[in-house]
Amino acid sequence: MKKVFIKTYGCQMNERDSDAVAAMLLDRGYSLAKSERDADVILLNTCSVRDLAEQKAIGKMGLLTRKKHRRSDLVLGFMGCMAQRLGPKLLDRLPKVDLVIGTQKLHRIPDHLDQFFNNGHHPISDIAEEAGSQDTIRDHAAPAARATAFVSIMQGCDMQCSFCIVPTTRGAERSRSIEDILAEVRALVTCGVKEVTLLGQIVTSYGRGVIPIRDGKSPFVQLLEAVNTVPGLERIRFFSPHPQGFRDDLIECFGRLEKLCEHVHLPVQSGSDRLLKAMCRTYTVDKYRRIVAKLRARVPDIALSTDIIVGFPGETDADFAASVHLCEEMQYDNVFLFKYSNRSGTPAAAMLDQVPQEEIVRRHHQLWKLTETHAARCNARLIGHPAQVLIEGEPESKKVEGRLFGRTRCNRLVYFPGTGHQRGQLLDVHISRAKSHTLYGEPA
Ligand code: 5AD
Repeated sequence: MKKVFIKTYGCQMNERDSDAVAAMLLDRGYSLAKSERDADVILLNTCSVRDLAEQKAIGKMGLLTRKKHRRSDLVLGFMGCMAQRLGPKLLDRLPKVDLVIGTQKLHRIPDHLDQFFNNGHHPISDIAEEAGSQDTIRDHAAPAARATAFVSIMQGCDMQCSFCIVPTTRGAERSRSIEDILAEVRALVTCGVKEVTLLGQIVTSYGRGVIPIRDGKSPFVQLLEAVNTVPGLERIRFFSPHPQGFRDDLIECFGRLEKLCEHVHLPVQSGSDRLLKAMCRTYTVDKYRRIVAKLRARVPDIALSTDIIVGFPGETDADFAASVHLCEEMQYDNVFLFKYSNRSGTPAAAMLDQVPQEEIVRRHHQLWKLTETHAARCNARLIGHPAQVLIEGEPESKKVEGRLFGRTRCNRLVYFPGTGHQRGQLLDVHISRAKSHTLYGEPA
């Protein structure tokens, strides 16, 4: 029985895809290797959002191909976004790579591996589009071991943000049906899952143009309402929305749908209207502010996180100051800060006024320090208070005997002592200590 190891780079969608591919491989009679060392097949599930992510995967593959000197039968493959973007070019660059499988062909990996083994070990590259591929990523590997699960609700993105490679790597928007998603959520709950995160590159566009608006409710809101009715499910999250589709019908779900958690990740990208326009983000800072104000009016303690890019072409000191100002104003619980990375083929790549790398690094560091202090302040506020935690298990790294971790509804990570408790249990924890991204406490 061949053993496969999948190493994942990038976003939650990639984690989700790796899980689904692992499940399909198990179904086909492959087994999963515990580590690279005892694997017969190593697949790198890749990310293209920034150049650094691609370089990491290429560097890693370079090291793996050297292992082939000693283990000529080792099978190596790229899958996912970079595979989609570069296709057979990856085989030219790294001739010892055996498989290159794009984002719409992940469900074909078991077939391709079978074919590879049965037909003389010829390299395979498959990055074609496939109608209906959004419906093929579903089964999870061993969900019984988890309290939380990612559920892919759609693939692709039709927005044209000028910095972003995702429309190239993930294709056009395609949504799964509400019934199909519900069936998956119910099956997960049967296996013990208590929390689902609905995933898509732009979930606020879910079902757009396919599922009609009903009673003023977008397809995505209809989906949230449906998932909220699944018995045994405790929590719902989603990731990522776009401010353009974050309308009143969605805002109104918070505080109404009892399973919907009090956390919104709402990418803003920049605090400058001039840059938002250059990024083709289709909203102004003021519109974004109004969405946040409405959310906070509905649920005063709602946690808010965002993505910000520093050093987008043409970003002046004043534009950067506007992003700093917006962070001060919003007091985000968490900011994912990205140094602008030039992605060839995107409109921004051809813009003439690229910001020098040293300046990008300087701005990134300045804003990072600020957002860390905000995150620490948000967490410190919880000291002395109780928080409901969904127990996810023992921490994988830095294993301390008798320590468990979970998340609050606001998506804060909490460590606490415990052994008798079970994964998937909801527990009230009294928070006693806080760092910027972690809380510590005792069962209340
Ligand atoms: N450079 C830097 N950051 C980027 N992102 C997307 N494309 C780029 C790029 N070219 C960031 C955005 C997005 C997040 C997932 O990655 O902030 O929201």
